[in-house]
Amino acid sequence: MSNQALSNISAPDFLTWAKTKQIHIEQVLEQTLPPADIAPQTLHSAMRYSALGGGKRIRALLCYAAAELCHTENHIADAGASAVELIHAYSLVHDDMPCMDDDDLRRGKPSCHKQYDDATALLVGDALQSLAFEVLSAPRLCKNASQQISMLNILAKAAGSTGMAGGQAIDLNAVGKALTQHELETMHKLKTGALIQAAVLLGAHGSNEQISAASAYAKNIGLAFQVIDDILDVEADTQTLGKTAGKDAGSNKPTYVTILGLAHAKDHANQLYEAAITALAPFGDEARRLRELASFIMRRSF
Ligand code: IPE
Ligand code: IPE
Ligand code: MG
Ligand code: MG
Ligand code: MG
Repeated sequence: MSNQALSNISAPDFLTWAKTKQIHIEQVLEQTLPPADIAPQTLHSAMRYSALGGGKRIRALLCYAAAELCHTENHIADAGASAVELIHAYSLVHDDMPCMDDDDLRRGKPSCHKQYDDATALLVGDALQSLAFEVLSAPRLCKNASQQISMLNILAKAAGSTGMAGGQAIDLNAVGKALTQHELETMHKLKTGALIQAAVLLGAHGSNEQISAASAYAKNIGLAFQVIDDILDVEADTQTLGKTAGKDAGSNKPTYVTILGLAHAKDHANQLYEAAITALAPFGDEARRLRELASFIMRRSF
């Protein structure tokens, strides 16, 4: 029997694999975040409140799936996965603040600024972002220093003004405006797609051969992720989402649903999914987790 056939039999099913990785990233983050009993206690406790014990960990899973494809060493995959989840947690804390989306509920709990206060939430975001870069810049994380610098560069670009933060700026400016589909796509690619793409690229660390296909996969699935987020905002309820349903319409935000309508938004997400899967065509079973994650992203209910 071929090795590939053997790996098909022995590999855990997707949900078992995902659960194992979700538990693992929780432990990695738990050890990475400063303990809540060292000073400044309130800040550390709020950082842990915001980054632990919740979330689907999709970005970590994408990083681990890309790491499997590219045979990235485990400790490097852990660094990439935790760095990207820390940036993501920071983006959610700031996204919920009164000066942004003003949302009181996140991951089924009061948002950071509700549980603590605005100033703490601001600092939590700052500190989680710094911690992400501390993780990726750890001395001798990679044997090849230039590869480590390129990982830092990937995350810095994805988080900054031409990535997530830039997308959030466009989002805030778009309130009450009728964007074209192209403008909306640019906003979504930046605010959500950039970090999702970074998750895949960090997992694919240093593997030039796979990088362009993985990157095309990530671009499409990153955009699909936010199209589905827009759809869930309309279709799901607050309890299932763990965040306030109907928030986009309530805040007069342009979304894929307002621009295309529900049915066409769903068609569009499906097209992006198909494009993501097509990008993985050069790979065999070693890309199975990336394929399964794409399908999970499409089927998610929160
Ligand atoms: C929510 O992201 C914010 C967006 C970028 C759409 P997730 O849906 O991945 O949130 P968690 O991490 O599972 O809570
Ligand atoms: C958030 O987009 C994107 C980032 C946090 C960068 P949304 O504002 O749509 O996310 P939710 O719906 O509050 O999770
Ligand atoms: Mg927002
Ligand atoms: Mg929001
Ligand atoms: Mg949303």
